Amino acid sequence: SDKEDIEFLKGCLKSYPDFPNKGILFQDIFSLLSQPEAFGKLKKLLVSRAKTVAPQIDVVVGLDSRGFLFGPIIALELGIPFLPVRKKGKLPGKVFTESYQLEYGEDILEMQDGVIKEGQKALIVDDLIATGGTMEAACKLVQRAGGSVSCCLVVIELTELRGREKLVAPVEYLMQY
Ligand code: PRP
Ligand code: MG
Repeated sequence: SDKEDIEFLKGCLKSYPDFPNKGILFQDIFSLLSQPEAFGKLKKLLVSRAKTVAPQIDVVVGLDSRGFLFGPIIALELGIPFLPVRKKGKLPGKVFTESYQLEYGEDILEMQDGVIKEGQKALIVDDLIATGGTMEAACKLVQRAGGSVSCCLVVIELTELRGREKLVAPVEYLMQY
């Protein structure tokens, strides 16, 4: 069952205390990709969740860089476009720009103008939501590009930071910590 598969994934996920800073428990998403059985279950769960939560989506948007591990797989399975949101200066042509808060300072995300058609519905995919700053900036970019956000899908939600409260769109997760 999906529930058993999620428990299996939790058993495979490696976490590292005090990384990158003291007091932070780092959940290493790459530890799931290094175990083919876990990666296979993860892929299956993400695709079926994407199909249930957003049957009417037109595009999948993935976030630089770890959202690129999962977004394209989902888009390919659904037979719809994959579109990147990237950190500043990486995308050619005219772009929309949004800044967001980091622990220290801020960073900028960008999305290309013209890749989303007016009114298209997007599923935004990332590996993890913490403060929600990254996902919030991505939602704004999708809207400025003319789309609407149907759902934000993450592998891991860190609930303590209440990132989902920053977002209007619903957040779906496979694992919560
Ligand atoms: C991490 C993670 C999420 C984001 C979540 O990305 O992959 O994208 O932080 O944090 P937030 O909810 O507090 O915004 P990071 O910027 O470290 O870079 P990476 O994906 O390129 O590794
Ligand atoms: Mg990231």
